[in-house]
Amino acid sequence: MAAQRRGSARNSESAAIERKIKRGHAQRQASAWSGPRGYLLVLMPLAACCSVGWLYLSMDSDITETLVRQGEIVLQPRIFRVPCSEDYKNYKRYPGCTPQTCGRAVTDGVVTREEAQMLRRLAERGLSLGGSDGGASIMDLHSGALSMGKQFVNIYRYFSEQIKEVFSEEDFRLYWAVRSRIQRTIAETFGLDSTHMYLTKPTFFSRMNSTAAKTTHDEYWHPHIDKETYGSFDYTSLLYLSDYGVDFGGGRFIFMDADGNRTVEPRAGRVSFFSSGSENLHRVEKVEWGTRYAITVSFTCDPAHAIDDPTLP
Ligand SMILES: *[C@@H]1O[C@H](CO)[C@@H](O)[C@H](O)[C@H]1NC(C)=O
Ligand SMILES: *[C@@H]1O[C@H](CO)[C@@H](O)[C@H](O)[C@H]1NC(C)=O
Repeated sequence: MAAQRRGSARNSESAAIERKIKRGHAQRQASAWSGPRGYLLVLMPLAACCSVGWLYLSMDSDITETLVRQGEIVLQPRIFRVPCSEDYKNYKRYPGCTPQTCGRAVTDGVVTREEAQMLRRLAERGLSLGGSDGGASIMDLHSGALSMGKQFVNIYRYFSEQIKEVFSEEDFRLYWAVRSRIQRTIAETFGLDSTHMYLTKPTFFSRMNSTAAKTTHDEYWHPHIDKETYGSFDYTSLLYLSDYGVDFGGGRFIFMDADGNRTVEPRAGRVSFFSSGSENLHRVEKVEWGTRYAITVSFTCDPAHAIDDPTLP
């Protein structure tokens, strides 16, 4: 009986993923679509949620290839090209920024382990003020959004003057320095003019653990396309602040390609970046144990969607 339920939940989940991949392909021929915007870590809740233990056991068989392991140190960006999806035809072109070539890259040579540790402490301090009831919390230093219970509060309004005891000018300088380096690295890797790329929102710290989701905001594991989830994104980067297999288990990043699932194992200080179109459908595995910290830093080609670097109010 239980096995049967698991089986059907599993089937509906795989069917939904398959539809998603097909939709990604269909999109290459069809016109642009716009998805929901905001702090959704996910696109849409899938119909049924699966038996957690069963899913973990089955997970590894779904991995076709590990692109970069936690224990490796990749000093120069390791680049994996993928053909750009057709959807770019539907977007306005910005010379020097709009992807001409698409792909993914991973590097450990841009942010040091020490910087990652400082940013992780910053995330721990900020997130300790709130936190989701479910297993996934975010903190956005630009807008001030912080997960709290089943919703978000504005950290700057909610804590006003107290916030100066939690964050310092130095924290924001570090964020700026790291963001700038990531931007230059993306520009060099994709052959762009970094002055034609702009930080865009949302840019946020995330903290994930194995506690069950309480709202759809906690469901970070669904496959999604960033350009569709967050309309302004052209390049997405993830800076990991903790180590896969050491600080947490599960929680690997997975590119879901039609011919296989390719993972990046998080490593503190590792930056993984990619063009945000449907050529890079991805998801994050559920965290099984421990706590996973990361920062999402994203760039747009459209100056109208540019945001300023976060500052201490
Ligand atoms: C996960 O984090 C939440 C805070 O968001 C905490 O209440 C919970 O105890 C944590 N769960 C585990 C398994 O560590
Ligand atoms: C990729 O992973 C999904 C979900 O984890 C799975 O349904 C699918 O079969 C996998 N694809 C391949 C080619 O292994």
